[in-house]
Amino acid sequence: MSRVYIETYGCQMNFADSEVMRAILIGSGHRIAESAEEADYVVINTCAIRDNAEQRVLRRIADLEAWRRKSGSRMRIGVAGCMAERLKHNLLQQGESVAFVVGPDSYRRLPSILQQVESGSKVAETELSTVETYDDIEPVRIDGNGVSAYISIMRGCQNFCTYCVVPYTRGRERSRDALTIVAEARHLYEQGYREVTLLGQNVNSYRAAETTFPQLLAMVAEVAPDLRVRYATSHPKDLSDDLLRTMASYDNICKAIHLPMQSGSDRMLKLMNRHYDSAWYMQRVDAIRRMLPGCSITTDIIAGFCTETDDDHRATLDMMRRVGFDHAFMFKFSLRPGTYAATHLVDDVPDKVKSSRLEEIIALQGELSLGNNRQEIGRRYEVLVEGESHRSKEQFFGRNSQNKVIVFDRKETRIGQYVTVEVTGCSAATLIGKLVNGRCLQVK
Ligand code: 5AD
Ligand code: SF4
Repeated sequence: MSRVYIETYGCQMNFADSEVMRAILIGSGHRIAESAEEADYVVINTCAIRDNAEQRVLRRIADLEAWRRKSGSRMRIGVAGCMAERLKHNLLQQGESVAFVVGPDSYRRLPSILQQVESGSKVAETELSTVETYDDIEPVRIDGNGVSAYISIMRGCQNFCTYCVVPYTRGRERSRDALTIVAEARHLYEQGYREVTLLGQNVNSYRAAETTFPQLLAMVAEVAPDLRVRYATSHPKDLSDDLLRTMASYDNICKAIHLPMQSGSDRMLKLMNRHYDSAWYMQRVDAIRRMLPGCSITTDIIAGFCTETDDDHRATLDMMRRVGFDHAFMFKFSLRPGTYAATHLVDDVPDKVKSSRLEEIIALQGELSLGNNRQEIGRRYEVLVEGESHRSKEQFFGRNSQNKVIVFDRKETRIGQYVTVEVTGCSAATLIGKLVNGRCLQVK
């Protein structure tokens, strides 16, 4: 039996998948190593969403190979996740130490893959499935803080945004059985977790038997009033009033919506195959503001998509101002092989222009985040304590329902507890607060 170390790159979905892999490995008698150095196998769970994500992984593989040569270790590497299918041939040929490649729907095959590798073969298992949801597997969560956990509720994506590689790397959309999701949330709660995030590429299209996403969200919220429930990610085209109503009716469903806008230009949105325009997006934002006052709105933005002009770029900046996002993940467009953009469009915005547009977007978001955070000063929030702050052992950090990080003097509070904190200061990224009356108020 081997010792396996798993390293995760990319999105929350990959973190959840690594936990599934750990469960499968442990279930078949393998052990989880605590570092790459002491492992027989290092499995790298990869992301293919942008070229720089792939480059990072390739550098890591090269570093591990160099270390292996120098140290004389017999460690072998496995490549899992989104880079598996596209790069399997290169990866297996590239380094003597890459022993296997395993795609996102083949993790159940890991024990047999390791067996084959032990007997001297190199193995690639990358077939995608239309049904695999790993719903009977209880993920093994070892990296976390013991307070908040991800629960994967669906896999794959079939929206085919023209820039995105995910439908090709992760396959068709499929939803996991609702009762297994609720059972996992309940088990997490019993183990002391106080926050779960339901994960899917487009949670709004969750449907298992007759259960819709708003119904699932309510079912998970019913597990316990002090179990916070979050989800990611919503597609603006499908964000329904029904979902907003469900969010409004449960205090423990967090008031934070991640709603990737991608661009503020209608021409770009059409070219991206997003199925909404800026007016629709704004109308959804208005619905959130009306039905969920105080809800935070965060987004994803791509700078420099194919044929983007200065006017298109300005439309994005305008929309950012109109919405006043609390936070944004901002990216330079990266052409991905196999996507519609790669086969039908021209990646014609020069890299320098992409960079300068991205910088403008980042600078504007910095102003918006800071402006929003300043308005928080004086407000009181219930905060779920997650851990020690990076700056000082005397301070804890946690999040409010809106998913904003708040740092405060820990006093006698403990991780996993709900406390009431008054905001006293801020930066663009973090709120600073103080415990109200110097003591914590436990939620019932
Ligand atoms: N280039 C840049 N950003 C991308 N994203 C997805 N594909 C690309 C790409 N090819 C961004 C989108 C998406 C987020 C997860 O990653 O903004 O919402
Ligand atoms: Fe996640 Fe997409 Fe990256 Fe795959 S390509 S790891 S789904 S972000």
